Amino acid sequence: MPKHIILDTDPGIDDSLAILLALASPEIVLDGISTIHGNASTTQVTTNALSILKLAHANQIPVYRGCELPLVQPSLLSPETHGNSGLGYAKLPEPAARPQVKHGSDFIIEHIMSHPGEISLVAIGPLTNVALAVRKEPRIVENVKEVFVMGGAIKYQGNTTPLAEYNTYVDPHAAHVVFHSGMPIVLTPLDVTYDCIFLKEDLNRLLKIDSPITKFIADATRFYMEFHDEYQKIDGCVINDPMTLALTYMPEICDYQDLYVDVDISTGVGLGNTFADFYNYEKKAPNMRVALGVRPRMFMELFLERMEKLARVNS
Ligand code: RIB
Ligand code: CA
Repeated sequence: MPKHIILDTDPGIDDSLAILLALASPEIVLDGISTIHGNASTTQVTTNALSILKLAHANQIPVYRGCELPLVQPSLLSPETHGNSGLGYAKLPEPAARPQVKHGSDFIIEHIMSHPGEISLVAIGPLTNVALAVRKEPRIVENVKEVFVMGGAIKYQGNTTPLAEYNTYVDPHAAHVVFHSGMPIVLTPLDVTYDCIFLKEDLNRLLKIDSPITKFIADATRFYMEFHDEYQKIDGCVINDPMTLALTYMPEICDYQDLYVDVDISTGVGLGNTFADFYNYEKKAPNMRVALGVRPRMFMELFLERMEKLARVNS
């Protein structure tokens, strides 16, 4: 039985790979996309989501535009990481489709409430839409099937400040609302995603297939690889979001611990920092399942196989 998912996303180069992986995975049905500010403006990431769906001949999937700004913090986009367009060097034709009228947070609420216990929410950008949905309709907490969150750094260093990962740093207050909401969360932090590096030889394998899909992946990830080399001296690029998506149907890629996790919303150097109470000092029950071990090549092989399949049917 395939899982029905909502993808809340800020495409974004690795987000675009997560959308493509969702479309290439018969284990899931992508019921809709809600877009969120982050890697680029909400206008830009919404256009990008529509363009990526068109690229993969999936125009039937509805896209709902979400929040423009974090709950409290000022906007923090990441052109240095994803390019001004949000898709690196990739150039996609303007999409014909338009976003739906409904707000992304309202789509999250209405879809979960009309399918109690059946919808998996996959959040791979700042958590503003999800936090707003929780505050507007608290009952989604017990009606959502599960929530997969890409974000945070538990034992690992930050990628946006020395302590904080991008999604939780951009909107730490939203992350705080979501982390303490009571929703069944599976967290995919940098601790595991930084072991999943998309290498030049992985890209060369995909380029053996002549397809608009492989050309897009090459043009988008070339920019992303240049960023990782210049800023983090990494050979390749960290594809956080497709890895998070893969855990919805292949959880064995990772090893998990049930932990009490919090996020720093104070105004000091730790803003957005996520930390786990490994020794249970706070005597609080775990609020999420955290991926802390990973089998990187199990994920990468899955990703490459699915991209090859998608490229062949879109050649
Ligand atoms: O820190 C990595 C995360 O922030 C990824 O989801 C990336 O797309 C950005 O949103
Ligand atoms: Ca993202």
